[in-house]
Amino acid sequence: CGIVGYVGAQNALDVVITGLKRLEYRGYDSAGVAVLADGGLAAAKKAGKLANLEKELADRPLPTGTTGIGHTRWATHGAPNDANAHPHLDNAGRVAVVHNGIIENFAELRAELVERGHELLSETDTEVVSHLLAEAYSSAGDLAEAMRQVCRRLEGAFTLVSVSADAPDVVVAARRNSPLVVGLGDGENFLASDVAAFIAYTRDAMELGQDQVVELRRDGVTVTGFDGNPGTYREYHVDWDASAAEKAGYDYFMLKEIAEQPKAVADTLLGRIDASGRLTLDEVRIDAHALREIDKIVIVACGTAFHAGMIAKYAIEHWTRIPCETELASEFRYRDPILDPRTLVVAISQSGETMDTLMALRHAREQGSKVLAICNTNGSTIPRESDAVLYTHAGPEVAVASTKAFLTQLVACYLVALYLGQVRGTKWGDEVSSVVRELSDIAKQVDQVLETMEPVRELARSLKDKNTVLFLGRHVGYPVALEGALKLKELAYMHAEGFAAGELKHGPIALVEDDLPVVVVVPSPRGRSVLHDKIVSNIQEIRARGARTIVIAEEGDETVVPYADHLIRIPATPTLLQPLVATVPLQVFACELATARGNEVDQPRNLAKSVTVE
Ligand code: G6P
Repeated sequence: CGIVGYVGAQNALDVVITGLKRLEYRGYDSAGVAVLADGGLAAAKKAGKLANLEKELADRPLPTGTTGIGHTRWATHGAPNDANAHPHLDNAGRVAVVHNGIIENFAELRAELVERGHELLSETDTEVVSHLLAEAYSSAGDLAEAMRQVCRRLEGAFTLVSVSADAPDVVVAARRNSPLVVGLGDGENFLASDVAAFIAYTRDAMELGQDQVVELRRDGVTVTGFDGNPGTYREYHVDWDASAAEKAGYDYFMLKEIAEQPKAVADTLLGRIDASGRLTLDEVRIDAHALREIDKIVIVACGTAFHAGMIAKYAIEHWTRIPCETELASEFRYRDPILDPRTLVVAISQSGETMDTLMALRHAREQGSKVLAICNTNGSTIPRESDAVLYTHAGPEVAVASTKAFLTQLVACYLVALYLGQVRGTKWGDEVSSVVRELSDIAKQVDQVLETMEPVRELARSLKDKNTVLFLGRHVGYPVALEGALKLKELAYMHAEGFAAGELKHGPIALVEDDLPVVVVVPSPRGRSVLHDKIVSNIQEIRARGARTIVIAEEGDETVVPYADHLIRIPATPTLLQPLVATVPLQVFACELATARGNEVDQPRNLAKSVTVE
């Protein structure tokens, strides 16, 4: 969910709606706002996208005030209807609350409230908080103190933002395990799930700690723990501006973000490989001694970031000879994994807020392992709770389906693998030196792929009435196939599966029927040619059974030509780096198919970009 709070001199509704627009990628099942005006509290909420709320506000305007809160929802408890939309008010309509997260003991708290005569109108866990807060406020007479009292009773994960008609010019928020940042303005202050919401007004931000309550006034911000003691926080300056989070003439954020990939990749490499080919990752704060002691690496991540992690495993094991596993963050801690201080856990996350990944890294640290985060969002929870962090410099990613963040995660993984080899004194031959050179130059290749995408778009449009597309790959091409399939599911809502090409004959080949589109990622014929020849055989196997083959192969690879119904060329790269170029046509393919099927590219159904619940 996306959350915004404002207190200052501007029209609060304008600021809140502007912020919610920036955060809509975090959820778009419903939206709502509350403003303090004329000694009272006015609220509006509507199921569906923010546009529905805007229409409601145009039809039935709220009074003008300078203190307000807003919310855009990704439903957990209760259907995405008007009643369950946030904000939630107490029975007297004096307190309004918006919430991100899940309050696990809400049933018990709800029963208690009902017994005391409260009437609850929605099915949400949030409404319970507004009632508890109103009760606590009536005895404490101070909204921040009331919030602290309530938070001490809550279990689960939450960001809460509240206003009370009895506390003008104040917004009070709380966080436990859910994102919340403060924006510091001049005579005005902001609260939001991420800085994108207030970047149009200020680039000065404040990162909060765990279990904290923040009281926002025009002229100041007070941070305390749930126990009332002063809280610690970190102020920082956001290094991108509002224009970075705008569509800049593109129809969709996703198209813009696909196009930004060469720059994102180059920015992530910038300053990290010196002229002699040495890695300089000093900013990462990883202790070189600890890295020399590492005997196992475990990568945890979700969704697209998990696919980056799968690719990283190939690079890490091949280049450093350290055993490496990649695991879905949501599965990791529940199987009691074997971890110790010599295990390095790498947590990959674009947002830095994914709850599954956060919980996995906490589990790892509890077992004494060191955690290195690969993250795109400064000030987010995952890097803050890790021992070390390597930031990707993709800039803000707004489209729900990840593109440029994925490519930069790959770059970061390669850098980590190479750096590990460097500090451990791994004896490398020419292969690695040439990889380092080619990596430094890879942005050009990504650019080259982008320039040749028209036939891919045309192909995508021609497949718009298909129901199923399969994706095959071997080695690092296998995670690329999984990523291609994930993109198609997310955006085109088509049945799409990625398989290891060698596994095909053990089952999935039964799915192949006449004219079924099958995308095959072909490894380079150079170097690892066994792999190449095997996949060429796999292409023949599926073609013999009627598949329509869509082959992604390196320029100059003529062996695939007789078996490709459609051929997508990518520049020659070392095998381990190929995902950086091979993924790009699959992103374009999924985006175009989604458009051809009339789907919303940036905000696919049922999804949210940053999933802060487990
Ligand atoms: C959500 C998004 C995916 C993303 C995943 C991990 O499910 O819809 O696109 O890959 O979260 O997000 P993260 O921010 O941790 O990389």
